[in-house]
Amino acid sequence: MAIDYQERIPNNVDLGSNRTLQRALEHWQPEFLKWWQGMGPTDFQASDVYLRTATSVDAKGWATYGHVRMPDYRWGIFLAEPDAERKIGFGDEFGKDVWQQVPGEHRSVLRRLIVTQGDTEPASVEQQRLLGHTAPSLYDLRNLFQVNVEEGRHLWAMVYLLHGYFGRDGREEAEQLLGRHSGSIDNPRILGTFNEPISDWLSFFMFTYFTDRDGKYQLKSLAESSFDPLARTCQFMLTEEAHHMFVGETGIGRVVKRSLEVMKELQSDDPDAVRKMGAIDLPTIQKYLNFWFSSSLDLFGADSSSNAASYFANGIKGRPDEATYDDHRADALTYDLEVPDGKGGVSIESLPMRNAMNEVTRQAYVKDCEIGITRWNRTIAKAGFSFALSLPSTRFRRSIGSWAATPTDPSGTPISLAEFEAQQAAWLPTESDRAFVHSLMQPVTEIGKMAGWIAPPDRGINSQPVPYDYVRLA
Ligand SMILES: [Fe+2]
Ligand SMILES: [Fe+2]
Repeated sequence: MAIDYQERIPNNVDLGSNRTLQRALEHWQPEFLKWWQGMGPTDFQASDVYLRTATSVDAKGWATYGHVRMPDYRWGIFLAEPDAERKIGFGDEFGKDVWQQVPGEHRSVLRRLIVTQGDTEPASVEQQRLLGHTAPSLYDLRNLFQVNVEEGRHLWAMVYLLHGYFGRDGREEAEQLLGRHSGSIDNPRILGTFNEPISDWLSFFMFTYFTDRDGKYQLKSLAESSFDPLARTCQFMLTEEAHHMFVGETGIGRVVKRSLEVMKELQSDDPDAVRKMGAIDLPTIQKYLNFWFSSSLDLFGADSSSNAASYFANGIKGRPDEATYDDHRADALTYDLEVPDGKGGVSIESLPMRNAMNEVTRQAYVKDCEIGITRWNRTIAKAGFSFALSLPSTRFRRSIGSWAATPTDPSGTPISLAEFEAQQAAWLPTESDRAFVHSLMQPVTEIGKMAGWIAPPDRGINSQPVPYDYVRLA
């Protein structure tokens, strides 16, 4: 079904035929806009931003581009096309018809999962609300706002499900999604990571590379769900999400590229010398990477989880790319999990596969994270330097799962807490690293110009040149 733009809420779910739902969402809409004005990007609401807007869910051309003021962005409800033949793809009910309504026995679990996913979307907008003031270029400023408006749309996606399928409870949850705020003492966002402000652009690129990618894997798991409206919602969100990870990957890549230019000019890889030239040295980039990768790993949950097992058994949440597995019941398989042996070493614990689904998803994520690392290392090698960036072990600096209470070095070797504390300044950003990165955060708003710590992108957005008025500041 085509997207109806005549409606107050653009949608491809035939909202006009369900007056009650339409009215409820039209009630929520001004509350959302109030939230956007109060908690969204500060001071840029009157600027014209070159944004893409979803106008179709066809993979071959789903977006149109143009300058719009962010509060005029057409946030809407878009689900991937239905597949009338779709069957349950995993778990105990494998092969049966998918659900078009929420089965009573799974109602509270599904609501919880949708609320948790929905909560992260506005949370990230809140975390990033001050970043516009220090953008390294108009191109980057536009990308930030593109990510922000689309996270706003992802909130709409979850609110539609809550209003449409969960009755009064759902409407109350939708209200609370605007009531919690990132970093609030009284009413914080649900997941810890989403309560930390993101106040520098290196962290923003790390967030879009590592944390948005966690989002991608959560959405991939939910896109397998037997609750068909949830699956179709997540499938379309993944289309938008790809750009967020592009922003992260190319952002980190451009910071690395700029460091290499400076290193070549200096004929030196001395971090202090690189910093004096106003670029970010590679060891500091590695520390930020260690920090963001390890905190994003925790978002997948415990490595052995009876909740994950029951989500899988009941067909609620699958594995990313479930179709690529042979056994969709996974009820007779085991998973070998590496756990601390309590004596400073590692031992193997054999888990029922269904209990290991968080870990299975985490490992797929880790593999996906490697792709960028390989690419950045190729540029470093090409520039003639011997430094290599790497992902730390999944045991490193964990707060959730078997390794939570066991300090390790970045390679995953268990060490004492005293040793960890003595070395952590070499592994994770220190106060002075953060202060240095912050000192570089000066806005650049001239068309085509870039801050000195980041290289220009290879190309612009939607075939526009890099020197282009991506944001017309009001
Ligand atoms: Fe999102
Ligand atoms: Fe995202």
